[in-house]
Amino acid sequence: MNRMRVVVSLCGVLLGAVACSRQPPAVAAPEWEAANPLAPLPQPPLGIDSRFADLPQPPTPERVRLGRWLFFDTRLSADRTISCATCHSPAQGFSETEPVSTGIRNQKGTRKSPSFVNAAWRLYPVFFWDGRADSLEMQSLGPIANPIEMGNTHDAMVRTLSAVRGYRTYFKAAFGSEEITKDRVAQAIADYERVCTSGDSPWDRWRKHHDEAAVSQEVKSGHDLFFGKAGCSQCHLGQNFTDDRFHNLGVGWNPRTRAFADEGRFIVTKIAADRGAFKTPTLRDVATHAPYMHDGSLATLHDVVEHYRNGGLRNPYLDPKITRVPLTDAEMDALVRFMEALTGQNRQEKAPTEFPR
Ligand code: HEC
Ligand code: HEC
Repeated sequence: MNRMRVVVSLCGVLLGAVACSRQPPAVAAPEWEAANPLAPLPQPPLGIDSRFADLPQPPTPERVRLGRWLFFDTRLSADRTISCATCHSPAQGFSETEPVSTGIRNQKGTRKSPSFVNAAWRLYPVFFWDGRADSLEMQSLGPIANPIEMGNTHDAMVRTLSAVRGYRTYFKAAFGSEEITKDRVAQAIADYERVCTSGDSPWDRWRKHHDEAAVSQEVKSGHDLFFGKAGCSQCHLGQNFTDDRFHNLGVGWNPRTRAFADEGRFIVTKIAADRGAFKTPTLRDVATHAPYMHDGSLATLHDVVEHYRNGGLRNPYLDPKITRVPLTDAEMDALVRFMEALTGQNRQEKAPTEFPR
């Protein structure tokens, strides 16, 4: 700064006939960098007892920054209208409030966009409702080339990004050279997803900090029901409230045709018992992204609890853990309040306002 001032005043002195040509051009950071500065990895929030350092390949700050841009950049889609965040909104637990997603040219999919908070530390590495991807890297290339999501090809995406001069510095910082490949794109996005966490909810503050005032008595009753009589924690367990396994609750079963609209896990395994089974979703931030289930068919958390109270929808493949749960109206409300208390403090993440050009 001092040096700058000296140069400036020298220029002042020399001003007149002599141009100040000796001054080196300032290498200011491009303006888009302020919208997405390099930051140290965030601390996992209260309630998440895992560390990034425990991962076989921890994310790096450089890849997270690049991945954050790519996640929000609509240039990854064929017609430049859709980014990952179109269907995975930070304010909605990286899910969305639509029953099923809408991709390019207004095409509707058949499944709800799931939340991926705390995905860095899955019990089992399974992604998508049917578990067909086994890593975030593998998962993130899917939607780019899915004709009804981002509708692009990986080659065209790589060409588009390679033409953006501003991106080169960041690929170099993240991977050691400027080259842009689909695998590097996948890796950067996956590292960004790993730092998308949820925790420090009222429930965490009650359980971890013993702050009795953090939640109401109703939430505490809901907690007891969830982990007790209602049997929810048989499947929604651990710090992320999921066993990362597949279960059939009868969602999407048509009793008339005796078939599922979507066969779920069966599509991957071809094992009959997996018909209509879907991955247990996390319940963190769940109150922020109604409607619910893989097909978005249940409008509210209350409707979900009612589905469980009725013992799911009977079908030949119903999970044996799903049985009628006698719950009073007050108990149903308490379960809903409990789930609402799982909304974390992490939802201030905003889309970068500027992108490399
Ligand atoms: C048009 C909407 C849409 C877009 C765009 C989209 N997704 Fe998704 N995403 C979905 C839907 C729907 C699913 C569930 C699909 C399934 O299970 O078959 C999903 C699943 C996922 C999952 C799996 C979560 C889990 O726990 O199983 C992750 C992670 C994810 N998307 C990340 C991304 C990334 C990264 C991008 C951008 C490259 C992206 N999505 C673009 C709708 C979208
Ligand atoms: C047998 C395992 C199992 C049990 C027990 C269970 N769940 Fe689930 N839960 C799942 C699965 C699997 C899904 C997704 C099903 C689908 O989409 O077809 C789910 C979905 C949900 C959803 C929707 C989340 C979303 O993002 O769409 C909520 C809320 C929920 N469960 C709450 C509960 C509550 C409350 C209880 C106890 C009354 C409970 N669960 C018991 C496995 C279970």
